[in-house]
Amino acid sequence: MSATIISGTELAQSLRKEISVEAETLSQRGITPGLGVVLVGDDPASISYVRGKEKACAQVGIYTETLRMAAETSQETVLGTLAEMNQNSKFHGILVQLPLPSHIDEMRVIESILPLKDVDGFHPANLGRLMIGKPRFKPATPAGIVELLLRSGNSPEGKSVVIVGRSNIVGKPLANLLIQKCEGGNATVTICHTKTQNLGSYTSRADILVVAAGKPNTVSGSMIKSGAVVIDVGVNRVPDSSKKKGYRLVGDVDFESAKEVARAITPVPGGIGPMTITMLLKNTVHAAKLQARELTETNSERKE
Ligand code: GUN
Repeated sequence: MSATIISGTELAQSLRKEISVEAETLSQRGITPGLGVVLVGDDPASISYVRGKEKACAQVGIYTETLRMAAETSQETVLGTLAEMNQNSKFHGILVQLPLPSHIDEMRVIESILPLKDVDGFHPANLGRLMIGKPRFKPATPAGIVELLLRSGNSPEGKSVVIVGRSNIVGKPLANLLIQKCEGGNATVTICHTKTQNLGSYTSRADILVVAAGKPNTVSGSMIKSGAVVIDVGVNRVPDSSKKKGYRLVGDVDFESAKEVARAITPVPGGIGPMTITMLLKNTVHAAKLQARELTETNSERKE
């Protein structure tokens, strides 16, 4: 058996068309959705992610500006920049690319972004809302995973979902989305992590297996239940002299062995990556609507 490939690239393209219509409608009313990005340092992967976000914004008609700062920039300078961006009405969404250099307290930075502009959904106020089932901005990667599951005909409802990885960016918010009593939720969730013993005994029971461990080959075919849906969140650069760039991208799952066991699997690249960016675009348009008071805060429904 060879698994169906779930293309994030294709789904992302169709979603981006929907988002660009919404952005255009807002722009015609004088509200051009805007995203401000802060990038500190010169980590090549972060630079590449930010470029991807800039390109996607341009594609759907979202105004974007990236403030690049040297790796040695002080925390005070970063906080000062964010305070100005919070006040600047052209930025409906603000994103600080993570990870930050080690001398900067990531939590301090995240907490300094206005929750109404926190399109990453990482502010404790927004994560708290997510946990109680009243999300304002769903973190982009978990939201992209749920969207991809739903639109590929793999609703998590009633399923055993195993997540490998407990990060604040993916594992924890994804678990919270999947246990909500709503569409895209109603799953039974297990979270595994670096201290989990006998990882395979958990992964092999998953109907839907999400791997966000940040390490190649964390899961191979022998650890997957026959017929499972596998979502690979990893983006790892491995040296490859046959490539022009000198590396190739691989996920956290051993794709070759996994595809012989799974019913469906996301590729790397072209799986979760494009969906993550698309959800960020969606959050930015949502932020513009919230700030234009087109949506109410409590239930995110359109005001009459
Ligand atoms: N670094 C890795 N993933 C993300 C993300 O979703 N948002 C931000 N801001 N930084 C990241």
